[in-house]
Amino acid sequence: MTPSSPPPLPSAVFICISFLALVISPSAALTCSSQKFTENQVYSNCLDLPYLSSYLHFSYNSSNTTLSIAFIATPSKSGGWIAWAINPKATGMAGSQSLVGYKNSTTGSAQVHTFDVSSYSSIVAKDLSFEVWDKTAESRSDGSLAIFAKIKVPADLAASGKINQVWQVGPSVGTDGRLVPHVYAGNNLQSKGTLDLKSGQSSTSSGGDDRLKKKNIHGILNAVSWGILFPLGAMIARYIRTFESADPAWFYLHAFCQVSAYAIGVAGWGTGLKLGSESPGITYSTHRNIGIALFVLATVQVFLQLLNLSCPFNILGHS
Ligand code: HEM
Ligand SMILES: *[C@@H]1O[C@H](CO)[C@@H](O)[C@H](O)[C@H]1NC(C)=O
Ligand SMILES: *[C@@H]1O[C@H](CO)[C@@H](O)[C@H](O)[C@H]1NC(C)=O
Ligand SMILES: *[C@@H]1O[C@H](CO)[C@@H](O)[C@H](O)[C@H]1NC(C)=O
Repeated sequence: MTPSSPPPLPSAVFICISFLALVISPSAALTCSSQKFTENQVYSNCLDLPYLSSYLHFSYNSSNTTLSIAFIATPSKSGGWIAWAINPKATGMAGSQSLVGYKNSTTGSAQVHTFDVSSYSSIVAKDLSFEVWDKTAESRSDGSLAIFAKIKVPADLAASGKINQVWQVGPSVGTDGRLVPHVYAGNNLQSKGTLDLKSGQSSTSSGGDDRLKKKNIHGILNAVSWGILFPLGAMIARYIRTFESADPAWFYLHAFCQVSAYAIGVAGWGTGLKLGSESPGITYSTHRNIGIALFVLATVQVFLQLLNLSCPFNILGHS
């Protein structure tokens, strides 16, 4: 351990910068669990839907097959519409039984209307094929709209426990209540999926609160690892070891910091992967890629160090 050898600072600085980039690149702009309703409605589950910045809050009572929902989305233009639908027989738009919300341009109040979307060219305002009640809508302060409704889920769908859901946002509504079509591209063609009703009953499902907890754990583990221990270990190697009397204690402190930083970093990375796998369709690519690069880099660094310790030749030029 020659005090004159160059300290391992460049890689430490790199790791810190990558970590800061991770904190800045969003892991999620908004989660449904932070959304509150003016009437204090409470739903046992919520989902950040993977496209169109839309959110579904829901509770399902299987003993009377009643689904209670709150759907939140922002129209593609102000004065536009948002829609959430169940497609009883297929996936996608055609065949969907839709709840559409928009702000009535005359009265200024948000309203819910039901549409039978039997095909891509037949979008007719009419009652749905199942019972819907307590339909209301509200305009929210951030420009989004919310649709509330209770739905009697048809027996066959209730039995399967999964329903096909479809959602959409559009630019405007004619004075006659005719919807002006949405964009036929990008995420507007992806906004469909299945909704697992059974998860609506279990409090342990990955609804909003549970997911938020996992996100916090992921954040804390990574902050402690990359944000505190790694830089601390690097600083020990650089500054403390210049004192003759600190030899070899600085080294053990340094090694302890780096090894525990790495171990906690592995856990933080693991929770990140788990979060990613639990949100199919939602990928925060920048964040994910930086995370992977950071982890690979730290792994290489740790293995080089181990190799360096057990190797008679000083590959890294320090220790
Ligand atoms: C004026 C009303 C509407 C018109 C004219 C319309 C027309 C269309 C057309 C032509 C497509 C196919 C585009 C393509 O594949 O290139 C499409 C797709 C889609 N529409 Fe609509 N739409 C309307 C309203 C709605 C509503 C109210 C919903 C929500 C319930 C919705 C949800 C969807 C979804 C999710 C897709 C993509 C998946 C699929 O192709 O089925 N649309 N729409
Ligand atoms: C579900 O519905 C049944 C029948 O209406 C009712 O007795 C029960 O309390 C409901 N359960 C919940 C959790 O609301
Ligand atoms: C089922 O039960 C819930 C909760 O008790 C109630 O709000 C809902 O109206 C009931 N559904 C039907 C179809 O009676
Ligand atoms: C707006 O509200 C008025 C009064 O309730 C109603 O007559 C009209 O049809 C509504 N317009 C639309 C576009 O739904």
